Amino acid sequence: MNSNVRPDTMERITTKELADKFIAEQVELVRKQVGDKKVLLALSGGVDSSVVAALLIKAIGKQLVCVHVNHGLMRKGESEQVIEVFKEGLDANLIYIDATDRFLGLLEGVAEPEKKRKIIGGEFIEVFNEEAKKLESVDFLAQGTIYPDILESDGVKAHHNVGGLPEDMKLELVEPVKLLYKDEVRVVGKALGLPASMVDRQPFPGPGLGVRCLGAITRDRLHALREADAILREEFANNGLEGKVWQYFIAVPDFKSVGVKDDKRYEGWPAIIRAVNTVDAMTATIEEIPYALLHRITDRITSEVPGINRVLLDLTPKPIGTIEWE
Ligand code: XMP
Repeated sequence: MNSNVRPDTMERITTKELADKFIAEQVELVRKQVGDKKVLLALSGGVDSSVVAALLIKAIGKQLVCVHVNHGLMRKGESEQVIEVFKEGLDANLIYIDATDRFLGLLEGVAEPEKKRKIIGGEFIEVFNEEAKKLESVDFLAQGTIYPDILESDGVKAHHNVGGLPEDMKLELVEPVKLLYKDEVRVVGKALGLPASMVDRQPFPGPGLGVRCLGAITRDRLHALREADAILREEFANNGLEGKVWQYFIAVPDFKSVGVKDDKRYEGWPAIIRAVNTVDAMTATIEEIPYALLHRITDRITSEVPGINRVLLDLTPKPIGTIEWE
């Protein structure tokens, strides 16, 4: 369709009015491109795919088929939000696949980080392809490619994990936000009526909590991680740090220490807080979280999350530490 080069004359989308104009143009273009055919989209719940979904629903309604694969490594409440916003709110044609058992089964006993990533990425393609093959007469594949993806990587967004679609499906791409920068995508998402909690979401790695449940993933430790992470996010939101800190999360390593609870020995995992600021994720600095808040988070996590008996704070900038632990 249109080219992969952003024209110098293209105005930066900073207001609702500019976003509405962009949306109206794209709705027309998409209708022209797609006609009465069907379009498939892997809807992760991240900012880019969510905005593309909302835009395409506006343009072609139920001709868009969204597939949300829950790999069991989502943050607490994220898959539920995808269903609530898109299926219940926008009446989307949404296929929800809970593939938790498949992913966790394959990951059982696998401790090596790169191997974990490969398994998660590979299985994602597998599950998505299985669904795609079940659908009849799909001619187009929508992707949440944005302009930095084109500048950085030749237009293919690796973590969208749809690069492995079978050749014989011969799907033409629909990429309505490919000339936009991230901040513009967020403005467009808000103009489309998506909730701020979705549009302003922090970056979340494709392998999800899989790279934060360190070493070989077990269900009990993954559960503890998800609950502790939810508490961290809730406390950051309640104390004005949401939207101020670039990325924050919990990592839970695969070892235990001795503790005491209710006068009894209580062995548990540590929850490690990581909260960083960055411009481009190539380098990162540490957010200085107020001590009172750290104490509160520690109290809540150690009392509310089964299996966690210590809370630690990661003070390591990038470099030397990467943002994710694995
Ligand atoms: P690192 O850990 O390399 O992370 O300092 C830099 C940024 O990239 C995110 N990240 C990923 N994003 N798929 C993604 O889509 C991945 O496999 C992945 N690994 C890391 C990370 O969360 C941080 O924002």
